[in-house]
Amino acid sequence: MIITDKTAPVTEQHSLDVEAIRRDFPILATQVNGHALVYLDSAATSQKPRQMIDALVAYYSGQNANIHRAAHTLASRATELYETTRQKLARFIGAPSPDEVIFTRNSTESLNLVAGSWGTANVHAGDEIIVTQVEHHSNLVPWQVLAQATGASIRVAAIDAHGLVDLDAYRSLLSPRTKVVAITHMSNVLGTIAPVAEMSRLAHEAGAIVVVDGAQSAPHLPLDVLSLECDFFALSAHKMLGPTGVGALWGRRALLEAMPPFLTGGSMIGHVDWDRSTWAPIPQKFEAGTPNIADVIAFGASIDYLEALGMEAVRHHEQEITAYAIATLRERHPAITIYGTDDTSVRGGVVTFNIRNVHPHDISEILDERGIAIRAGQHCAHPLHKILGTGATARASFYLYNLNREVDALSEGLARVETVFRRVIDRPAR
Ligand code: ALA
Repeated sequence: MIITDKTAPVTEQHSLDVEAIRRDFPILATQVNGHALVYLDSAATSQKPRQMIDALVAYYSGQNANIHRAAHTLASRATELYETTRQKLARFIGAPSPDEVIFTRNSTESLNLVAGSWGTANVHAGDEIIVTQVEHHSNLVPWQVLAQATGASIRVAAIDAHGLVDLDAYRSLLSPRTKVVAITHMSNVLGTIAPVAEMSRLAHEAGAIVVVDGAQSAPHLPLDVLSLECDFFALSAHKMLGPTGVGALWGRRALLEAMPPFLTGGSMIGHVDWDRSTWAPIPQKFEAGTPNIADVIAFGASIDYLEALGMEAVRHHEQEITAYAIATLRERHPAITIYGTDDTSVRGGVVTFNIRNVHPHDISEILDERGIAIRAGQHCAHPLHKILGTGATARASFYLYNLNREVDALSEGLARVETVFRRVIDRPAR
């Protein structure tokens, strides 16, 4: 193991030095309710390495200026740093050109951009938009709004008993009416990974475009948007060790160039007259107004950190901890239901569960008393919870800084839940 101060603890042979990594995350040393923090809510937002925090402080302390406008030294330097993150992100996701990467506020805004711009220009009455049953609201509601405005309709591709997209059911929905296939790459509830490349090939044969919500996959999987064969890919920095308030959209150049702007105003124009304007080339056409310069620049440090570790190693670590969590929870907690497949080759580090007759909010509260942070509720996926047949679920989600001993802490916390709720657990299921 070599420790480099600039980026991240360098990985050898696909194995992360998690103890060294943890030293880069100041928050992991804090106490919550008198206990060492056990942070198992990275699917909601990841924690941040000091390298990213330092980049943010360095920007505001010594580099702050507006970009793409003035010719003074600070402005040129800030512009260069901002554009460097675009280059880093393009490389990280396998985009052919940084011009095809647009900065937004988050995945939700990226998906709204596609639905609002490409969708409004190309979707008409009678057209169909296919989504899958595991969609987060952010990759469902924008398409509903588009469908309602245009007279198009939404078709929903079913998942199988393991929470994986049923390819036969999906295939049967495709037709010449299909205009858009909107897919969550990795479910934020089940952790299941969609076969995006295969779904994209089938969608393209039907003449549809493919929009991928990569909010949960970009932080955890080695990525190559061209191998996924999709047309648009959305991600959020804050789930990838980066700051909140930054997202990105990758899109194919020809599609982006043909699309009308999403937001209009400063920075996105070519020439402006009183009665009409022309647009700047991509990516500026889609970045109206002063962007979130500081956070984009700091996000560059997060990408460096992930790249130094290696996404293969990150994925490998998460498969191991997920397998350990599923096995441990099943073995020690007979009243538990774990949703989704046990096969870690097609799922990420999200373990969603219920304990018989116990409300997930009660589980979360008892765990919180021990410093253990999980998420409870419907995780912005109301329709999926209907399919799972449950009002709410508890969710533990892992990242590159989690250790098996934190899974053990979760299990000990759940043992406490079982003690408190023993009588209700022993009743027949509600
Ligand atoms: N989409 C985030 C989650 O699943 C907020 O928790």
